[in-house]
Amino acid sequence: MRIILFGSPGVGKGTQAKILSSKLHIPHISTGDILRKAVLERTPLGIQAEQSMTNGELVSDEIMAAIIEDKLHCKECKSGFILDGFPRTEAQAVDFDKLLKKLKIPDMYLVAISANEEELVQRLTNRRACNVCHNIFNYNEIKNRTKCPSCGAENSFYQRDDDTEEVIRRRLEIYKSTTKPVLDYYEKKGKVIPINGVAPVEEVTKNIIDAIEERTGKKITISA
Ligand code: AP5
Repeated sequence: MRIILFGSPGVGKGTQAKILSSKLHIPHISTGDILRKAVLERTPLGIQAEQSMTNGELVSDEIMAAIIEDKLHCKECKSGFILDGFPRTEAQAVDFDKLLKKLKIPDMYLVAISANEEELVQRLTNRRACNVCHNIFNYNEIKNRTKCPSCGAENSFYQRDDDTEEVIRRRLEIYKSTTKPVLDYYEKKGKVIPINGVAPVEEVTKNIIDAIEERTGKKITISA
């Protein structure tokens, strides 16, 4: 299976991508995670991307196209993949179509997750992650813990630099002005699967799987 998880910052793309990747045994390709790793390791890519990311702006289409092309060549991607955070501009979507053609990868569905803006701001200001297993939590789930509930690491929780209210509002603006048009692009191709993201995490996962099965007419094999 090959899908794009699409939606505003904080809608739950990363949360759902991690669950689906482990249930379906296909790689989760998160452009945000790739960029954050590059920033942390001070690679040339990271140094170039850092300022835009800190300000909540988008990294250039040229950089993103090169990252995706490199990732899609991995042998684990042959049986499928879940894209999280790409494409995010119309230009990225057009280039991505050309890349899929070149790599002889069939066209993909875009799962569009939605939630209202105040819910998104709440989620993002309360988001914490583990710097060892990279699992994502709400602050209320971990506030009395010193150990990560997923991997047991001690004192490993952190808050992303771009999860301040000011930068969150900027990211939401950019989503509306620049990223949302990508939805129209896929809608014209009849490839959008809409999903309500305001429901418990497990329910959203189930709704995504059911909706993909219904649209493709194919049963998805899931491991527990
Ligand atoms: P990226 O990392 O992709 O950030 P984003 O799109 O802003 O999305 P987030 O990671 O903030 O949200 P999410 O939807 O994954 O939500 P999550 O599951 O964590 O990009 C970061 C930056 O990199 C960009 O600003 C840009 O600079 C650059 N970049 C990346 N890709 C790019 C591209 N293609 N082009 C140009 N630049 C690019 O959930 C959020 C919180 O909600 C968590 O606390 C979670 O526990 C909670 N939650 C999740 N689901 C639920 C639920 N159902 N109910 C209640 N709470 C929930």
